[in-house]
Amino acid sequence: MLKSMRSILSSLLTHKIKLLSLVLFLTTTTEVASSFSNKTDRLALHSFRELIAEDPLGSLSSWNNSLELCEWHGVTCSRKHQRVVVLDLRGKLLSGILSPFLGNLSFLRSLYLQNNRFQGKIPLELSRLFRLQHLNFSSNSLQGEIPTNLSNSLSIISLSYNDLVGKIPADSFGSLSNLTYLDLFSNNLIGGIPPSLGNLSLLQIVDFGTNSLTGNIPHSIGRLSKLDYFGVGSTKLSGTVPPKLYNISTLRQLIISNNLLTGNLPQDIGLTLPNLILFSVGDSQIWGPFPVSLSNASKMRTLDLSSSNLSGPVPFDLGRMMKDLKWVTLGGNNLGSGDASDLKFIDSLTNCSKLETLGFNENGFGGVLPNSIANLSSHLNSLVAGRNQLAGNIPVGISTLVNLAALGLEENLFSGDIPFEIGKLRNLELVSFGKNKLSGPIPESIGNLTRIFEIHLDGNNFNGTIPSSIENIRGLQTLDLSHNFFTGRIPKIVGLFSTLTFMYLAHNSFIGVLPLEIGKLNNLQELDVSENKLSGRIPSILGNCLKLEGLFLEGNTFHGSIPPSFSSLKGIESLDLSRNNLSGQIPENLVALVLLKKLNLSFNNFVGEVPLQGVFGNMSMISLVGNKGLCGGIAEMQLPACPMSIKKGNRLGFKIIVPIACIIPCLSLMLLFVVFLRKRKQKNKSLTLPVIGDDFLRVALPERVMEIVDSRMLLEEPTEAENDAQNERVRPAKISECLVSLMRIGIACSAESPDKRMNIKDVIIGLMTIKEVFLGVGIHGRRQMRMRLTGEATKSATRGIDSTEDA
Ligand SMILES: *[C@@H]1O[C@H](CO)[C@@H](O)[C@H](O)[C@H]1NC(C)=O
Ligand SMILES: *[C@@H]1O[C@H](CO)[C@@H](O)[C@H](O)[C@H]1NC(C)=O
Ligand SMILES: *[C@@H]1O[C@H](CO)[C@@H](O)[C@H](O)[C@H]1NC(C)=O
Ligand SMILES: *[C@@H]1O[C@H](CO)[C@@H](O)[C@H](O)[C@H]1NC(C)=O
Ligand SMILES: *[C@@H]1O[C@H](CO)[C@@H](O)[C@H](O)[C@H]1NC(C)=O
Ligand SMILES: *[C@@H]1O[C@H](CO)[C@@H](O)[C@H](O)[C@H]1NC(C)=O
Ligand SMILES: *[C@@H]1O[C@H](CO)[C@@H](O)[C@H](O)[C@H]1NC(C)=O
Ligand SMILES: *[C@@H]1O[C@H](CO)[C@@H](O)[C@H](O)[C@H]1NC(C)=O
Ligand SMILES: *[C@@H]1O[C@H](CO)[C@@H](O)[C@H](O)[C@H]1NC(C)=O
Ligand SMILES: *[C@@H]1O[C@H](CO)[C@@H](O)[C@H](O)[C@H]1NC(C)=O
Ligand SMILES: *[C@@H]1O[C@H](CO)[C@@H](O)[C@H](O)[C@H]1NC(C)=O
Ligand SMILES: *[C@@H]1O[C@H](CO)[C@@H](O)[C@H](O)[C@H]1NC(C)=O
Repeated sequence: MLKSMRSILSSLLTHKIKLLSLVLFLTTTTEVASSFSNKTDRLALHSFRELIAEDPLGSLSSWNNSLELCEWHGVTCSRKHQRVVVLDLRGKLLSGILSPFLGNLSFLRSLYLQNNRFQGKIPLELSRLFRLQHLNFSSNSLQGEIPTNLSNSLSIISLSYNDLVGKIPADSFGSLSNLTYLDLFSNNLIGGIPPSLGNLSLLQIVDFGTNSLTGNIPHSIGRLSKLDYFGVGSTKLSGTVPPKLYNISTLRQLIISNNLLTGNLPQDIGLTLPNLILFSVGDSQIWGPFPVSLSNASKMRTLDLSSSNLSGPVPFDLGRMMKDLKWVTLGGNNLGSGDASDLKFIDSLTNCSKLETLGFNENGFGGVLPNSIANLSSHLNSLVAGRNQLAGNIPVGISTLVNLAALGLEENLFSGDIPFEIGKLRNLELVSFGKNKLSGPIPESIGNLTRIFEIHLDGNNFNGTIPSSIENIRGLQTLDLSHNFFTGRIPKIVGLFSTLTFMYLAHNSFIGVLPLEIGKLNNLQELDVSENKLSGRIPSILGNCLKLEGLFLEGNTFHGSIPPSFSSLKGIESLDLSRNNLSGQIPENLVALVLLKKLNLSFNNFVGEVPLQGVFGNMSMISLVGNKGLCGGIAEMQLPACPMSIKKGNRLGFKIIVPIACIIPCLSLMLLFVVFLRKRKQKNKSLTLPVIGDDFLRVALPERVMEIVDSRMLLEEPTEAENDAQNERVRPAKISECLVSLMRIGIACSAESPDKRMNIKDVIIGLMTIKEVFLGVGIHGRRQMRMRLTGEATKSATRGIDSTEDA
């Protein structure tokens, strides 16, 4: 009994203990659970922070242990559980990679990391964030694919401006039933637009633009009845635009430009899409007549219908109701019919007081520019009307458009003068009047247009001279006056246009010389003054225009030789000097212009040997016809062989800058030799050295040996002592050989780095040897001489004497 009582008691007691321990256990587990979660968030954020390489704004400085997690900058916690629900570090310029631990922030609803510099992949672990609603990673440098299985709670996914690849994950995106905002603009995504997106009935913003997506726009997209923005511009999409897309009346912005999409624009589009503010179909194959109803889309701000295949007239009342219109581009279609009323729609655009851009170029518009153009918005900054059949004068009223920066009227039938009032358009930057029938002079008032950087007046009937006021246009980059009747000189003030890149003055009647000031144009890439009446020498200073790629001087009366300085034009691709009165030898150093693809020297008076290398090695790149005195060259040229002497002298193609310190002793030694040479050759003054100036040191010695040497010396009659047939041929060769050797020494002295220069002892030995050779040691002396001339520079120079390959 007692025993039983005890046992009951004991069992009760154990029960109680069990109960107690259970309670105890329960309390500890709940405590553990809570602190565990707390720790998880903390661990996750620590890991996130650890992988941030740079925090230039110090945005994470508050992320330390002395502050509660929930007080950290950018962190918001839920009140109840003290768990992280928002992580917002947008625009902090953070770089690094995204920690997979972010997937442990299991209460997270919003993750805003846009406008940072995160790299690497989007962690797959983010798919564990089943409460996530807002995800914005725009404007980072994220790579890899878009993770699948993202939370079905998501309403915003913004991944634009990253480097994401792969496909849009069809299966998982198709089930994001709460998605309203899907922005994948500007990534490298491929594949198609998943048709399942048509199920996401809450979608309002969809942007897939600037990706490499292919395939069609799925018809299911037409079911998105809340769509506000749909962008598929600059993709590789093809096929027909689903007509239902044009029926989503909520659409405000529709961008289907720049891809292979086709289909016609429904005539009632302005009624079915009455809320359009931005409509862009440019650069696609959309076709059909211009929809008259578009005028009813009265909220329109940006209308881009350019480079499509639209036809027919533009409705006269296009702009009547579009009070907010800023941008209209209709260029590159088949609009208009060459009719006088074609541009009547411009009258209606005078209602659009915010209009900034108006383009209707490359169409079939006829008639004249209406005077109403003067009443267009004063905000207008681009008026682009080129390549139509517009006739009549340029209306004076155009001068009221004081904010105009670009004015394009090229390739029309405009006639008459450029109105003097154009000088009022002080914001003009680009004037394109080429290929019209305009005439008269360039008005002096052009000098008031100081912001211009491009002027195209080519292919008109302009005459008169280049007005001096043009000197005020200091930022000029392109000046095209070609194919007109301009006269007078090319003014020296062109030297002021330090930014000038393209200067085309071809096919006019310019006279006088090429002003030396052109040498100041160190940005010049193309200079075309062909087919004028220019004369004088080609200025050597053109060699300063180091960026020249094309130089066209043909069809003038330039004389003299090709300046040796042309060897500095390392970027030159086309050089045309044909049909002038140029003479002298073809500078050997032109072979070093490796980019030269077209060289036309035809119909001049060039003489001497045609080099073999570089551009001269390819018949299709060069024209030399009509020069009677040329010899040598590659076999295909079928020129006569050159006499020995010319060959030797001409082989000196070295491009070495001569340091003053070395060249002066070398030159004095040479002068000694010259005196010696002169004594032997009484008859004529045989060797001349140009005045030593800066220019000479830079270019003359290596490149003008044959100019230094009076050529008569080489062809001179033999003295009595050498008066036999054999010597008559050998002599000039010997003299030339000595000169060449002499120059070798000079050049060896002039190597750019001092350790490559010859030492003075070797110089003297060399000179002595040359003397011996000249005095009759003869051809054997050459080897001896060569042996003594040691050193790298000399070796390569010596190789140049023997081998025709190298020069
Ligand atoms: C963990 O959460 C509790 C509230 O549940 C909070 O009082 C505590 O400060 C948190 N601990 C840490 C380390 O954040
Ligand atoms: C932690 O951050 C807070 C807020 O930025 C700062 O005031 C505090 O000095 C920091 N503490 C430590 C130890 O860095
Ligand atoms: C959090 O996530 C990481 C990586 O995804 C994982 O290794 C870790 O075990 C997770 N749990 C905790 C409590 O941090
Ligand atoms: C996402 O971030 C980008 C970049 O700052 C911003 O333009 C866009 O409006 C954001 N999207 C949402 C839905 O907040
Ligand atoms: C993620 O998605 C893939 C298919 O895309 C599926 O096989 C997998 O089971 C999903 N994982 C989770 C955790 O939902
Ligand atoms: C979608 O949003 C509604 C309303 O906010 C919400 O009740 C529902 O749970 C959400 N659906 C999902 C899958 O998260
Ligand atoms: C979603 O869309 C696809 C293709 O448009 C369709 O086959 C599927 O039945 C839809 N799913 C749901 C749940 O509506
Ligand atoms: C557009 O909507 C109208 C009226 O709701 C309807 O008659 C027409 O068939 C629809 N067009 C397309 C292509 O769905
Ligand atoms: C342009 O549209 C016309 C019909 O207006 C069509 O015949 C023609 O094939 C289209 N051209 C292109 C290149 O799409
Ligand atoms: C469309 O505009 C025209 C005139 O521009 C007007 O006569 C017509 O009533 C408008 N239609 C609608 C539906 O607003
Ligand atoms: C251009 O400026 C000059 C003064 O430099 C002025 O006399 C002339 O009227 C101006 N012309 C125009 C059209 O603005
Ligand atoms: C320019 O041409 C017109 C005829 O088109 C002529 O009257 C005028 O004298 C010419 N001016 C000059 C400077 O040649």
